[in-house]
Parts: sequence; structure tokens; C-alpha cells
Amino acid sequence: MAAGDSFYITTPIFYGNDVPHIGHAYTEVASDVLARWHRQRGDDTWFLTGTDEHGQKILRTAVANDTSPQAWADNLVETAWKPLLETIDISNDDFIRTTEQRHEKAVTVFLQKLYDDGHIYSGEYEGYYCVGCEEYKQLDDLMETKDGDYAGQLVCKIHSRPVEILKEKNYFFRMSAFEDRLLDLYENTPGFVQPASVRNEIIQFVKQGLDDLSISRSSFDWGIKVPWDDSHVVYVWFDALLNYITAVGYGVDDEQFERRWPAVHIVGKDIARFHAVIWPAMLMAAGLEVPKAVFGHGWLLVGGEKMSKSKLTGIAPEQITDTFGADAFRYYFLRAINFGQDGSFSWEDLSARYHAELANGFGNLASRVTAMVTRYYGGVVPSPGEYSDRDLAIQSTLQDAVTTADAAIERLAIHDAIAAIWTVVDELNGYITLEEPWVLAKSDETRERLGTVLYTVTEGLRALAVLLSPVIPTATEKLWASLGAADGLGALPEQSIRDAGRWGQLPVGSAVSPLEALFPRIEVAAE
Ligand code: MSP
Repeated sequence: MAAGDSFYITTPIFYGNDVPHIGHAYTEVASDVLARWHRQRGDDTWFLTGTDEHGQKILRTAVANDTSPQAWADNLVETAWKPLLETIDISNDDFIRTTEQRHEKAVTVFLQKLYDDGHIYSGEYEGYYCVGCEEYKQLDDLMETKDGDYAGQLVCKIHSRPVEILKEKNYFFRMSAFEDRLLDLYENTPGFVQPASVRNEIIQFVKQGLDDLSISRSSFDWGIKVPWDDSHVVYVWFDALLNYITAVGYGVDDEQFERRWPAVHIVGKDIARFHAVIWPAMLMAAGLEVPKAVFGHGWLLVGGEKMSKSKLTGIAPEQITDTFGADAFRYYFLRAINFGQDGSFSWEDLSARYHAELANGFGNLASRVTAMVTRYYGGVVPSPGEYSDRDLAIQSTLQDAVTTADAAIERLAIHDAIAAIWTVVDELNGYITLEEPWVLAKSDETRERLGTVLYTVTEGLRALAVLLSPVIPTATEKLWASLGAADGLGALPEQSIRDAGRWGQLPVGSAVSPLEALFPRIEVAAE
């Protein structure tokens, strides 16, 4: 992708029936890092997130709490979901709620078009329904439990809760008609569904044959009314998936829609099928472009199982950020888990990486360098003399890291991008150990060498601040301020990421001030 291209990235819209846990926050931070990276690349970036507020799941929670679904969702959006974005430092450009007028109106336009074009018919359906997933299930998706509260019943494999048998007169979307076009799409555009494990699963699923999709419900009324039959509301997933286009002007603002669509969708692998099968089929029916990519990331596991509130293993994001901070949260989940694979969460691992990599690796490097420039040069960045091979090696490590990290982001391999950047952290630490600036500072004869060494590490930190700013925005802002870089170079988020490896950008003479520990040591009682 060339710089300056349109880059539209989305998270799933979260169910507004319950409060967020770290699994939700994981999707957010991954998408946020990608959005920030693309902005710093100069791409025309748009980052959307939001909440999914219709359907039975929310209706039931509201009723159980003696309130209306709208009041329930309003409250949770304001007290839990929007604050989550602050807690983990999310830089979204928009937040869509499916109960907003702009969404409801555009859904109606879309649906009416599909109806007018013959993609929708009326029929009857009987099947197993999981309210947790808001989805009709096939027997393959269910298992019989042997013990516990639901012994002998069929439960959903994801939620471990019993399914319900539903029989209804519904409207159906002729999804089966798109089977061949979908298979062609997976075949011809291998990057459409990622990673490969999810792609293979989707292809297998579609090859087994696609049914038509029930897209309306008449047994309750919490949803968007079907435009030609107001005794039905739109199926919650059909409504929810459309947020990705209704938020960027579908049916209302053609210019904005053209500018943004198609998007890259980051979703959990449990909902990849909705995004990689139903969603492109809907778009094909409407004559719209399919998404650029659907990436199904793995699950955060606790005790070997998908962490979830319904199984009481949910961990609130603030439990982590209150102690370690938002930057550490963001760094940890994106570094420790290969994006696309499952990852087990443990407090011990979080604490170990925090101390080894953030506090000792990066934080300590930043503190030492700024302290040395302050001590030996009165806080003024010295000019470098002639570069030695070891200095030049640092410059080329940096160049390689930028290229490797940018290519990794292109493949959505966020962990590889961070690992590539970390080679610079490690090299700079090793360089300081070898060069021993505190020894060079002892004699006037080595004063010029000291200047070269300190310029090298300070300029290295300048580049690290730029490269790490999408991942740890708060710490890198502090570092940027301490390097006095803004005066000569401008604001950190405006620094070009692809240009980060060009040596010599930090002006000689910049005013450095000492830095407090970016990641102070933390004594934690493991929970
Ligand atoms: N409302 C639907 C999405 C509609 S998108 C058009 C939904 N919401 S959700 O709140 O249940 O889930 C949102 C996201 O959180 C999903 O991508 C899901 O995979 C993710 N996670 C929920 N639990 C998770 C883990 N334990 N680990 C990682 N991600 C998890 O589905």
C-alpha cells in the first residue's frame, strides 16, 4: 500500500448489555495500533468503533433489570464503553451506536433495496438459537452436557448455555445464491480472510453449502422495523454488520462513502463467519464492494478457556491499567501474543514482561541516555564526530527495523512489528555497555567520541519514540518532550513512520531534560 491511501479500520461493535473485559479491550488496542501506524504513515485513516444495541440479548438484560433496552444501553455506553476507550487510550475517529438515527435510516435504505431487487423472501424457520451468540446454530455448533446445571441439555460450544428452539415466520436473505461468488473471492483474494487458519475454516464452511439467512424476527420488537412489514424487526447481526457502512455515509453522503469504503475489519475469530460470509454476501447483493480484509484474531484464554463474563472469568481492563498503566496494557497484549493466535493471560507473565522489557529494556535506556546528556553536556544534544563501524551498525539496524516493522504491519502481524522495533532497543542497550560513555567522560581526549556515542543513542531514542508511538503513546510523548524534539521536529504523532530510520533528524543543540522512570518498578501481589 502506498502512503496517502485510504485506510478505514473497524472493530466489532460491542454488545451493550454488559461491561467490557480485557478480551474486548484487546480488539480495541490492536485496531488502535494499526490506525495510529497508518496515520503516521500519512494514510487517509479512519478508525471506527461502537456498540451493538438491538436484539434479544440486550432486551432480556434490560427486562431483568426492570428497565427499557434503550435506557440500559444509554447507561452502559456512557458509563462503561466510552470510558473504556479512555482507559486504554483509543484514538477512534467515530463511535457508532446502532440505535442512532443515522444508522437506523441507512439500514432501512439497504434492506429496502435488497427487497426491491428480489434478494429477500418470506418463509418459515425452525432451529436452535443461542441468544449469547444471537445466532441460529447447527448441531455441529452444540454439545450435550453431562453434568452441572444444564446436564442432558444441548448447549452452545461458545457460551456453554442451553440453546432455545425457535420456530418463526421470517424474511430470508437469499444468501445461498452467493456461494460460488464467495468461494471465488476467497480463492482470488487470499488476503480477504486472515489468518490462514480462519480462512481455511471459512472455506470449509462455505463448501458444505450455504443456507439462506433468516433476517427478521417477529416475537419481540427491540430492533429496526422491517420497512415493508412493521410486525418484524431486523435480525440483530444483519443490522449490526451494516454499521460499517452506515457510519461512513452509505445512502446519505456518497463522497464520504467513496472516500472510506472498503474497510479492514478486525474481529475475534468467533465472529469471523459473520464478517467473512454473511457480510460480503450482503454487500454483493447490494452491488457494493466487499471489505478489503477480515482478520480474525485469537482469544484471550484464562485457565485454558476463552475468557468471558458468562463464564465468570472476565477481567476488567482497569484491573490491569490501574496498576500498570494503559501503555503497558497495550504493549503486553500485542507483544506477548502472536496476533491471530490464542494467548493465555497471566499476571505473572504480564509483570515479568513489564519489568524486563518496558522498565529495564526501554524505560531504563531512555532514563540513562537523557541523564547522561544532562550530566555530560548540560542537557544540550552534542554533535557527532566521525562514525565508527559500531555506530553505523546501529544506523543500519534501525533502517532494517523500520522496513521490517512496516512490512509486518502491512500483514497485520503486530507482534512482528514490535519485535522488529525492539531489536533497536536491545542494540542500543548493548551499544552503551560496549561504549561505556561514563569512561569516555573521564578524559578530554575522548570528548569527541563521547559526543558521537551520545548523539547516536539520543538519535536512536528519537527514532524509537516515533516507531513506538502507536503502541505506547503516553510514554513516547514523555520521551519526545524530554528529548526536546518537538522544537525542531514538530509533534510526535505527526512524525512519519516510514522516514523514522533516516539518520540525523534530531537537531544538534536540542534541549534534553532528565526523564522520570517511564515504567516504574511495581511490586504486585499476583492475583
Ligand atoms: N456485537 C457483536 C459484534 C457485532 S460486529 C458487527 C459481538 N460483540 S461482543 O461484545 O460479544 O464481542 C466483541 C468482540 O470481543 C469480538 O471480536 C470477540 O471476539 C471479542 N472477544 C470477546 N471475548 C474475547 C476473548 N476472551 N478474547 C479475545 N477477544 C474476545 O460479538
